[in-house]
Amino acid sequence: MGGQVLRLQDVTVRRDGAALLRDIDWTVHEDERWVVIGPNGAGKTTLLQVVGTMLFPTEGVAEVLGERIGQTDVFDLRPRIGLASAALAERVPPEEKVIDLVLTASYAILGRWTEEYDSHDVTRAVELIDQFGCAHLIRRRFNTLSEGERKRVQIARALMPDPELLLLDEPAAGLDLGGREDLVRRLATFANDPKAPTMVLVTHHVEEVPVGFTHALLLRHGSVVAQGPIEHVMTADNLARTFGIPLTLERSSDGRWYARAHQF
Ligand SMILES: Nc1ncnc2c1ncn2[C@@H]1O[C@H](COP(=O)(O)OP(=O)(O)O)[C@@H](O)[C@H]1O
Ligand SMILES: [Mg+2]
Repeated sequence: MGGQVLRLQDVTVRRDGAALLRDIDWTVHEDERWVVIGPNGAGKTTLLQVVGTMLFPTEGVAEVLGERIGQTDVFDLRPRIGLASAALAERVPPEEKVIDLVLTASYAILGRWTEEYDSHDVTRAVELIDQFGCAHLIRRRFNTLSEGERKRVQIARALMPDPELLLLDEPAAGLDLGGREDLVRRLATFANDPKAPTMVLVTHHVEEVPVGFTHALLLRHGSVVAQGPIEHVMTADNLARTFGIPLTLERSSDGRWYARAHQF
């Protein structure tokens, strides 16, 4: 077991009187790959915002990469965390070129201005774009890409600063079947790379869990339903409680998960 990357103790987040997260206890170690699964509105994005240091807990203690949130400069911490989310993608300037979108991540900025990049950065950006199958798109503008291409470029961007922690908020949302399968396979390959950072991937579809992810946290109404090693947590009972419907869960021989509702 590697060192501790995340430790949340009794974390509660309240907004306008509503508890978006309630008494979350959660520890993530270096070599783990976690999925956070829950229905729409469960608090998954809120949880990623806490561990991404964008949101302070209302109550409780959050330690990220050894630093206690609220007692440390988050601007020192953020470059150590890679984040890909729809909210971030919406803020990309429409004319931004793919190569610039990835390069600017080394300065934690969005939108290329007049920075100079050294050749080492350019080489790294090109390699990452290539790793996610987008080498042919390097000179294209971000707003001309397909949804699948955008998702892959965003992950390359999140990895540019060589983060110790990678956070992916619904990376397969909006993709067609081919796009989803391509992304899930790439993430599986990446998850199995021992040099890859610690990962937390948020989804509401068990079909999007890449093979090789080791742990799961199930979230409903801001509370943890179950958490721990994925093969213990991913049961039909736990998922039925998480989604509030009776369902059947299957795992194929290659390690992928499939769920469908019972007649109800
Ligand atoms: N700024 C806010 N103020 C009040 N409620 C919010 C705010 N942001 C999100 N919520 C609510 O918090 C709940 C959890 O949201 P979110 O973390 O985005 O869920 P998920 O990502 O699992 O779909 C939702 O019910 C949402 O409507
Ligand atoms: Mg969300």
